[in-house]
Amino acid sequence: MPSSVILAIESSCDDTSASVCIDGKIISNIVANQQIHEQYGGVVPELASRAHIQNIIPVVDTAIQQANINKKTINAIAFTRGPGLLGSLLVGGVFAKTLSQTLAVPLIDVHHMEAHVMAHFIDAPQPTFPFLCLTVSGGHTQLVLVKDYLQMEIIGSTIDDAAGEAFDKTAKMLGLKYPGGPILDQLAQQGNPNAFKFTPSKVDSLDFSFSGFKTQVMYFLNKATQKNEHFIQENLNDLAASIQQHIVNELIRKLELAIEQYQVKQVGIAGGVAANSCLRNEINNIKNKYDIEVYIPKFEYCTDNAAMIAICGYYKYLKNEFCDITIPISPKI
Ligand code: KG4
Ligand code: ZN
Repeated sequence: MPSSVILAIESSCDDTSASVCIDGKIISNIVANQQIHEQYGGVVPELASRAHIQNIIPVVDTAIQQANINKKTINAIAFTRGPGLLGSLLVGGVFAKTLSQTLAVPLIDVHHMEAHVMAHFIDAPQPTFPFLCLTVSGGHTQLVLVKDYLQMEIIGSTIDDAAGEAFDKTAKMLGLKYPGGPILDQLAQQGNPNAFKFTPSKVDSLDFSFSGFKTQVMYFLNKATQKNEHFIQENLNDLAASIQQHIVNELIRKLELAIEQYQVKQVGIAGGVAANSCLRNEINNIKNKYDIEVYIPKFEYCTDNAAMIAICGYYKYLKNEFCDITIPISPKI
């Protein structure tokens, strides 16, 4: 008999996801992506909420079926409380609350960014404490000192755009669809990362800044396309590779600063941008340079997923950290 069966729900942005975790092991993890946003060049909150409403029942059903469990064996429901889009969070939150009442099991609220870090504890090998985690997603860029399973200190974060946003917004300037990060990554494979150079941010603390870079790319493209209207098409791969290299350089520069300041021996990356192949390569170079261990969760646990909510839920379950059904969802937590 398992001692904990946790059903987790993630709906903070544009992916509807459900996962079943039994005694700390992820048994199923279903993600429904929303293609509808592609044509708008970014997530349209109202459309995201409506798609969550359509997806949530089939996604949860499939997660339960794939895990081969009976609903009655579920011991707790974990859900993303925030941060994220208000309407999207509400769909997952209300669903989780209703299910916890119906099944008469406790509810566990999970912080989305904490869950990205906790994705390191889904599979082996796992870091030990303390370790440094660079959490890079569409909405956040953070350097986190992880002291224990649910004990984290943010030591640096973006003062404007997130790294994922920098990828998506510059990709949009190149005429690419949303989300632009993975498309840039793909195009960059055939491009020269040194073809075009952009100036690094002047922020010298552990914080990040990407808005100046975004403006630089915009002015650069305006000028270049005035001279040659086919400039973007003719240089697409080199532009993708140079933009990607700039963003990754900025991330690595701050990560190295943090490694030196905090003298950590283990580093992890998490969040959607951790799926980026250039970042994954560069982080492996850091491994040799500083003689440290590097941890990167599996690809499917980097982008938004409910497995990371489930693993976070599991560690909260072990500590009896439950919440009341009246807890509000919190978009800006
Ligand atoms: O963590 P995530 O799935 O959702 C948020 O919590 O925001 O991250 C989504 C972000 C998007 O900005 C997307 O473009 C970026 O992750 N992303 C990538 C790659 N895959 C996803 N960025 C660069 N390279 C990738 N391969
Ligand atoms: Zn995320």
